Amino acid sequence: MGARIAGTGSALPLNVVTNEELELLVDTSSEWIVQRTGIRSRHLLQESEIPSDLGVKAGQLALEAARVNPADVSLLLVATNFPDMICPGSAPFIAEGLSLKDAPFFDLKAGCTGFVYAIAVANALIQSGMYPRVLVVGIEALSRVTDWTDRRTCVLFGDGAGAALLEAGTDSSGILGTALYGDAEKSMFLNLPAGGTRTPASAETVAQGGHFLKMEGSGVFRNAAPMMEKATLDALADAKLELSDIDWIIPHQANQRIIDALVRRLEVPEERVIVNLDRVANTSTASIPIALDEELRSGKIRPGDIVALTAFGAGVTYGAVIVRI
Ligand code: UT7
Repeated sequence: MGARIAGTGSALPLNVVTNEELELLVDTSSEWIVQRTGIRSRHLLQESEIPSDLGVKAGQLALEAARVNPADVSLLLVATNFPDMICPGSAPFIAEGLSLKDAPFFDLKAGCTGFVYAIAVANALIQSGMYPRVLVVGIEALSRVTDWTDRRTCVLFGDGAGAALLEAGTDSSGILGTALYGDAEKSMFLNLPAGGTRTPASAETVAQGGHFLKMEGSGVFRNAAPMMEKATLDALADAKLELSDIDWIIPHQANQRIIDALVRRLEVPEERVIVNLDRVANTSTASIPIALDEELRSGKIRPGDIVALTAFGAGVTYGAVIVRI
């Protein structure tokens, strides 16, 4: 048995923005957004709020749930694509907020698959004996990189954070299988072109909107369900399990139509699929840990349940983890 999830936490900004409010910003309609995506509202940071504070809150709740002191965390792994600062990232700010002692920390960037990648990496590090207790935080402040005049992207995203404390597994609880993939030919499907070292930020890049997230929506859309299907089936094979053994699937919360396509491909009952994107929209790396935490706390997901976590995202990356809670 691999590492177990000993506790989870999540945090959403208090500010809720409905589709109707977006109708006032761009040429869209709530009906279009609901029909094409399933999204009805999202939580967005206010201007004065600091993104990594969400990660601190989610991490604190995960540590409380796992009954682990910050001083006993041996590694902090922060999955994020848009850190508080390009350097030093988000991990140091979250480590500071959590009062971690001398634990190492780093950011892991793997698109919306970041949390799934980070869980697999944490599992390997725990199993190797290198770090006994790893806190994984998935955090994204997409509102800060969204062009609020671009109706093709601004209706899709939300802000949030989720966290999981991983430690050595037991006979009855732990990670059973993993499958991670990349497809670098599709690297420009989702990108933020300026502000990195290839095209440093300048007055010109800002004038051109190079600091906003760009997306080839239909390319992402076509590939998402087949990628999550492959990853889920391969992670199940790694776990030596069948689809019928899974109690719950938590797919990346990007679009209800993508989730529906995944459900059709896998031929699983839709009641076994966890969805919260209608309330929180696409929170990238945070989407899976937020959904997992919500349903652990609601009691829907119970100890002993087998859960498949699967995602796809910028890179293009995709992957899945099968875990017994
Ligand atoms: O975490 C991974 C991140 N990304 C994703 O998961 C996104 C994956 N892609 C998608 O979810 C879908 O491609 C979208 C929801 C982004 C778009 O849905 P679509 O069914 O692929 O629509 P489309 O891009 O083909 O656009 C259809 C029409 C276009 O108008 P014309 O050219 O046919 O006149 C768009 O301009 O809908 C228009 N449109 C909108 N209309 C009203 C695009 N966005 C909007 C909008 N409101 N917000």
